[in-house]
Amino acid sequence: MKSFRMTPIKMTVAGLLVAVAAAAQAPSGLGRPLHAAVDGLALTPPMGWYPWNIFGEEPQNEKLIREIVDALVASGMKDAGYAYVGPDEGICFARGTDGKLTTNLARYPSGLRGLGDNIHAKGLKYALYTDAGTKTCSTAMPGTKGYEFEDMKAFAEWRADYVKIDWCNTAGQDIIATYGLLADAQLAAGRPVVHSLCSWGDGYPWQWAWAVGHMWRTTADICAPGQADWARAMRIAFANEKLAGFAGPGRWNDPDMMIVGMPGLSEAQNRSLFSLWCIMASPLIAGNDLRAMDKATIGVLTNLEAISVDQDPLGVQGRVVWNDGNVSLWAGKPLFDGSHAVLVLYQGKHRADKRISWEELGLGAGDELYVRNLWTHETSGPHAGGFSVSVGPDDVAFLRVSKKRDFPIAPVLVADSYLVSLRSATARPETLKGAVIVTNKGSSELPPWSVDPKSLPPWLKVTVTGSGRSQTFVNTVSTAGLQKGLYHALVRAGNVEPVSAKPMSALYYDVDLEVVRDVRR
Ligand code: GLA
Repeated sequence: MKSFRMTPIKMTVAGLLVAVAAAAQAPSGLGRPLHAAVDGLALTPPMGWYPWNIFGEEPQNEKLIREIVDALVASGMKDAGYAYVGPDEGICFARGTDGKLTTNLARYPSGLRGLGDNIHAKGLKYALYTDAGTKTCSTAMPGTKGYEFEDMKAFAEWRADYVKIDWCNTAGQDIIATYGLLADAQLAAGRPVVHSLCSWGDGYPWQWAWAVGHMWRTTADICAPGQADWARAMRIAFANEKLAGFAGPGRWNDPDMMIVGMPGLSEAQNRSLFSLWCIMASPLIAGNDLRAMDKATIGVLTNLEAISVDQDPLGVQGRVVWNDGNVSLWAGKPLFDGSHAVLVLYQGKHRADKRISWEELGLGAGDELYVRNLWTHETSGPHAGGFSVSVGPDDVAFLRVSKKRDFPIAPVLVADSYLVSLRSATARPETLKGAVIVTNKGSSELPPWSVDPKSLPPWLKVTVTGSGRSQTFVNTVSTAGLQKGLYHALVRAGNVEPVSAKPMSALYYDVDLEVVRDVRR
């Protein structure tokens, strides 16, 4: 077992690129640090599932989302790192006469908090949707304009971990000020939340949104609901690619939810789209019907070798090196172990045979490198000077090249639960325990997490045991002296990368305690 280590020089270069891009592009007077540096979230691109691409609005309800959650777990997607899941625009709330948001109980009978609890109990994170204007895009739901603090508080009470905020019905609103206000409202609500901006490139969010959120849509929608469009997806990939310099840990260009597995796409197209999203360090938000996937689609969405490129902790977005109209070469993505991701996409009709030289990848002409094929899972080499690929129509060769023969997988974190629910029904003091187990599906060790005891209420203690592959958070509750009532704690844990001492993976979960009677001391 290897300790998790990033190659220090590469990381410095990546960090430098991010800092330079930020300094060059920050609109003057924004005056905010990198948002992710404040909350430690989304330091690698968020992974999850959202309903819009396949379902649109109408079929969304609690039953559907719960079925999708179960399919996400059963298919192995959860074990591959997909975590954020929940309704998109699907008429899940309305605004009452008192100005407060209320759940649409006809569609979500357990309430939006109940749905969130179900998702957390399965070890997944809860995603919700709203809009920065007066109404959402379909106009069926209220937007946040004028209610930013109230609505973000409601989302926190529903225990959302991710909020996608659309940009419809915003006439006259200043985009930077609006999303900044929403970020302030999220911070004031006190629950960590991934802020996903959705202005489809309006307002050039790549230039500033890193200060108020974690990811931003760069283009128009990838498809109309239910209608995967390959040509449009490719236009989006090539547009998003041009923004590579703006991405980095905690700040992601979002070319939209994926269309992998939607009707009309071939297996090669599924593989290609997924590979492109991975080399671009894009959020990997699946958009297909997870209840009806064939084996090949599951194989694409759960390919850990490809996911490891996307989730690489250096967070560099790959870019096009050259494009002859049929064949394009994508590279410029150094990875944490000193290897490099390379992709050859063929958009012609027959088959392309190409030789890729190490030099055109920015590597030494005389290098002797091993090549790992991330789809056939074969390693070959060492190869002197370059490597030949043969690629069919709409397909890719997706590779890692390295001086070393081993190709470690970056950390991929999977929790058994993000909710500990405990109950005490006696007046006698009790000690109750509940555990959260987090497993690293990658091949390298993860640094230990720690919880600041001062951040916890007096009735709760947390100890972290285990090591690099699996760590257990043991939550010990003492009910002595507690009065009857409901208690809640948000447990936050952090860890740091050993070489750079930079934060790696902020982790948090909820502990609920129900005390049925007053308890003696
Ligand atoms: C916009 C977004 C989509 C989806 C719809 C919902 O078009 O870009 O992803 O959220 O709104 O109406």
